[in-house]
Amino acid sequence: MTSLLLGNTVQIKEINETIKQVAPTDVSVLITGESGSGKEVVANSIHRLSRRNDKPLIIVNCGAIPEGIIESELFGHQKGAFTGAIDERKGYFEMADNGTIFLDEIGEMPLSTQVKFLRVLETGEFMRVGGNKNINVDVRIVAATNKDLASEVTNNHFRDDLYYRLRSINIFIPPLRERKSDIKLLFYYFTDSYCKENNIEFKGIDDDAMDYLINYSWPGNARELKNFCESIIVLNPYKKLSLSDVKKHLQADKREESNSLPIIIGKSRESSEKDFLFRALLEIKSDMLDIKDHLSVIENNKNGQTVNNEDFILSKDRILNMKMDEIEREVLIYMLDKNFWNVEKIADILDQTPRNIYNKIKKFKISKEDRWERN
Ligand SMILES: Nc1ncnc2c1ncn2[C@@H]1O[C@H](COP(=O)(O)OP(=O)(O)OP(=O)(O)O)[C@@H](O)[C@H]1O
Ligand SMILES: [Mg+2]
Repeated sequence: MTSLLLGNTVQIKEINETIKQVAPTDVSVLITGESGSGKEVVANSIHRLSRRNDKPLIIVNCGAIPEGIIESELFGHQKGAFTGAIDERKGYFEMADNGTIFLDEIGEMPLSTQVKFLRVLETGEFMRVGGNKNINVDVRIVAATNKDLASEVTNNHFRDDLYYRLRSINIFIPPLRERKSDIKLLFYYFTDSYCKENNIEFKGIDDDAMDYLINYSWPGNARELKNFCESIIVLNPYKKLSLSDVKKHLQADKREESNSLPIIIGKSRESSEKDFLFRALLEIKSDMLDIKDHLSVIENNKNGQTVNNEDFILSKDRILNMKMDEIEREVLIYMLDKNFWNVEKIADILDQTPRNIYNKIKKFKISKEDRWERN
């Protein structure tokens, strides 16, 4: 993959020039643009074209980490800093030492954490949670957001001093609908790559179908176009794409985006809400069963034999009186406790993304004070 943004519009060429200019320096960069417009591609390019490219690029999604634990995730903590901090732990800033840290969704960073972050930006120094000595790191900072940070400042959700500091180098990626001549180029790039990977011979697209794509609004930007290219080829592998294929497909995509449940026309709002809740419950239940499966596999592996009822963290009697959410919450507390809040490890064990685990921690309002106890 190319290390710069693909595109032949003036806007993209200028962005690529800026990337080449700033990459070799250590200056902090703020990348803005709608979702799917390529912010992560830019962050990767900056790191790869810098002298730090053989050092780590640590990607942190500030929006996915619950407020209660973001400071210890970013800056680490000392042993005993809070209940459950059995060992000291390095934060992402220390892990990124000599490399680059990419703080995605920076607009979601809590105000209290922003103070500490500004200090790192200005001095390269911070303290671990519960620590009393300054830690110095050499980290290049790249941040991104799809929010309008200026209005976040006006609403007191974002510190003005941090905003002025961050925006001194701002790379703004315009939405795809404002750089129409990139659409065709990206369409061929995404279809060609997909066809090559999957040994499909691409049969092309009619002119009026391409015109339709060029005039479509692409609210999900390049990501939406990429998904569109891949799925339309899966569904029409042996034919030249026509205007009606394209229209049908874009409408189907829109339906999927607006609601994953098929809404039956004529149904009352309450009953579709009921369907939605029911579906959500089913999903939780299936997640729960997955977690249970994984736990019993782990226990099995440990014992090398059959699972004894005592080995389960919840007794049969308790399960019968618990709601699905309560069971899931308890299992998660157990995993967090057992693994010293190492979310990456837990995600790995449970075959989930760390983001999923963070979302559950947020959803169930679990904090580091919550300990697992058998009862
Ligand atoms: N100009 C481009 N050239 C090639 N690929 C691109 C370009 N822009 C985006 N993409 C691809 O589109 C997808 C979305 O891009 P990316 O993840 O960088 O978006 P983002 O701005 O970070 O979105 P979000 O705000 O949702 O995190 C990725 O698969 C990326 O490789
Ligand atoms: Mg992104």
